[in-house]
Amino acid sequence: FDGFDLIVVGSGFFGTTIAERAARELGLKVAVLDKRTHFGGNSWSEVNAETGIEVHPYGTHIFHTNSEEVWTYLNRFTEFTDYRHRVFTVHGGRVFSMPINLGTICSFFGRHFTPDEARALVDREMGAEGIGEPANLEEKAVKSIGRPLYEAFIRGYTMKQWQTDPKLLPAAIIGRLPVRFTFEDRYFSDRFEGMPRQGYGAIFRNMLSNPNIRLFLGTDYFDVRDKVPAGALVVYTGAIDRYYDYRFGELGWRTVDLEWEVARTPDFQGTSVMNYADTDVPFTRIHEFRHLHPERPFDGDKTIIAREFSRFARNGDEPYYPIATPQDRDLYDRYVGLTAAEPDVIFGGRLGTYRYMDMHQAIGAALKCFDQQVAPRFSAGKPLS
Ligand code: FDA
Repeated sequence: FDGFDLIVVGSGFFGTTIAERAARELGLKVAVLDKRTHFGGNSWSEVNAETGIEVHPYGTHIFHTNSEEVWTYLNRFTEFTDYRHRVFTVHGGRVFSMPINLGTICSFFGRHFTPDEARALVDREMGAEGIGEPANLEEKAVKSIGRPLYEAFIRGYTMKQWQTDPKLLPAAIIGRLPVRFTFEDRYFSDRFEGMPRQGYGAIFRNMLSNPNIRLFLGTDYFDVRDKVPAGALVVYTGAIDRYYDYRFGELGWRTVDLEWEVARTPDFQGTSVMNYADTDVPFTRIHEFRHLHPERPFDGDKTIIAREFSRFARNGDEPYYPIATPQDRDLYDRYVGLTAAEPDVIFGGRLGTYRYMDMHQAIGAALKCFDQQVAPRFSAGKPLS
């Protein structure tokens, strides 16, 4: 890596944004390493050869944000469609709209409710068990939406996600559950939303196509770190516990397994994501990717779907969602304590900071990191040292 000013480890949205900014704004020579054979991290998408449908190999990714800065930035590299995400859930052989809204409540209780009537009903159910400070996830959920809606839509799904009875899960792992007393059924309520017209792969290709950037795919940083020249800045977006060889132990993650199938029908479920709330179905949801791009002409007779199963990550699994128990947080803090001794390494992204981030948050954090930590180290394209 001689001649490179900046080594970016990981080509997800965090690393790619840093690389793009540094190459374009500062004219730095940037090496981008990824241990995978494609760039784009978990947001990567590619066309499935058998069906011609664009798939998201790490699970459905919908772009949404309230940040004008992030939206304007990303629009330099892609056009967005006007896709609006909606999610449905199967419970007891019936289909309901998610997150819980007035439509869900009317269908579930089988009658018409005005917003005031629905609110009064949910308020009554919320107070029915007299729960004070919730002692576990179940109590927190019942306190925020009442038992009937909890039992139908949250209990089984949560159990499948965590492989644990919600009574045994800490209350802190969920926020307050949302209930909408309108018929608004859009999943996200952000100002900006859409799917990249040419897919996520094209965004990354556009961001990374700069003569100052060189890609090293299929390259694990830990196999080559001794070749990084002294004084080069490293932006590391891999797992922080791995960086320190798991010295204090491993951080806890949940992972998902996707079971892929090419179904012999042009339309398997009529929508992009269908949740399954009940425990008699082992998976949590089914993704059908063709529905993410309704604007694309489709006359195929096959569709590609993925059933999603959720479980605790073991060694070697892809880390997806941080579990973040108090013990995990302590462990993370101990690793952060070690980073002060390494002024030439910046830890970023979801793995480097042990935090769930949506794509817009990863990009927003990278733009800030570039302005506050990367750019000040360089002057006129040359390292200050
Ligand atoms: P990301 O994980 O993308 O990239 C890290 C990269 O570092 C990887 O490519 C990895 O191979 C590489 N790497 C790690 N260690 C390395 C090493 N030692 N050497 C070399 N390379 C190394 N967000 C959203 O906005 N809308 C959505 O709908 C979804 N949906 C969604 C579904 C699922 C199932 C998940 C798990 C996540 C989402 N997300 C999402 C979140 C989205 O995936 C997330 O915001 C981005 O992946 C974050 O980008 P990063 O660059 O931080 O990590």
